[in-house]
Amino acid sequence: MEYQNILTEKKEGVLIITINRETKLNALTIATLQEIKHAVNCGQSDPEIHGMILTGSGPKAFAAGADISEFAHFNNDEGTRMSADGHEVMNSIEEGSKVVIAAVNGFALGGGCELAMACHLRVASTNAKFGQPEVNLGVPPGYGGTQRLIQLVGKGKALELLVTGDAIDAQTALQLGLVNYVVEQENLLDKAMEILAKVKPKSPSAVHKVLKCVNDYFQPNVNGMQREIYEFGEAFETDDFKEGTTAFMEKRKAEFERQSTYRCY
Ligand code: COA
Repeated sequence: MEYQNILTEKKEGVLIITINRETKLNALTIATLQEIKHAVNCGQSDPEIHGMILTGSGPKAFAAGADISEFAHFNNDEGTRMSADGHEVMNSIEEGSKVVIAAVNGFALGGGCELAMACHLRVASTNAKFGQPEVNLGVPPGYGGTQRLIQLVGKGKALELLVTGDAIDAQTALQLGLVNYVVEQENLLDKAMEILAKVKPKSPSAVHKVLKCVNDYFQPNVNGMQREIYEFGEAFETDDFKEGTTAFMEKRKAEFERQSTYRCY
C-alpha cells in the first residue's frame, strides 16, 4: 500500500509511524486511519520489528481529532460506519502482539486522544494537550474514547473531561495516569525508544500473552483470571519458555526468537 498521509521508518527494530498532515494538525481522515491500520499490521507481521511508535509530524500536534471537514455532512449510516471502522483501527493496535507507544508531541484531541489511548503506553512532550472536545460538535466520541478514558483515568474524571470537553496539559495527564511519562519534545522519541529497548530482549510470546490478559480485564464477557490461567499453561509449550528457563538455569541471558504471527496484506 502506498501511503499518502503517514510516514513509516524502521529504526533499531522499531517501526515509527508518523501521521503526516502537519498543516491540518494531523487531523485523522478516514484514509489516514486506514493507512495507520495497514502500517501497524505490517509491523505486526515483520519479525525484524519488536515494537512500534505512533507520533505526529511537526511540533504542534499528535492529532487534533478526526477530520471535521470530512464528516461534517455525514448521516446516521455514514457516522455509524465511520465509528465502526475507527473502532477496528483502534482495536488492531490494542489487540496486536507487539507493544505500541504513542509519542504525543502536541494536541491529542478527539480521535487523536482516542488513538493515543488505543496504544499500550503513552509518552507526552511538555506541550501536549489531551481532550475529548466532541461535545462541542454535537457528537460523543466515536473511536472508543468513552470507554478507554474510563479505563485509564476512572469514571469520575473521565466523565468530567467528556462532558466539559476540557483539554488538560501533559502534567495533569501524568497525574491522572493518562500518560506514562512527560519529557521535553526533543527527547520524546528517545524516551519511547528507551522503553521499547527494555521490552526488546523479553520473550515475545510472553509479552503477547501479557497484552492479551490485560486487554481481557476490560472485556465484559471474558473472565480475565481464566484467560491468565489459560495463557500461563499454554506458555509451557513454547520455545520461549524452554529458552527462558534453560537460560536461567545455565546462568546466561535468554535469547528469544521473534516469529511472524500476522500477515501483512
Ligand atoms: N479536523 C479538520 N481540520 C482541523 C482539525 C480537525 N479536527 N483540527 C485542526 N484542523 C485544521 C484547521 O482547520 C486549520 O486548517 P486551515 O489552516 O486550512 O484553516 C489547521 O488545522 C490549523 O488549525 P488552527 O485551528 O488554525 O490551529 P490553532 O492553533 O488556532 O488551534 C486547535 C488548534 C487544536 C485548538 C484547533 O485546531 C481545534 O480546535 N481543532 C479541532 C479540535 C477538535 O474538535 N477535535 C475533535 C474532532 S472529533
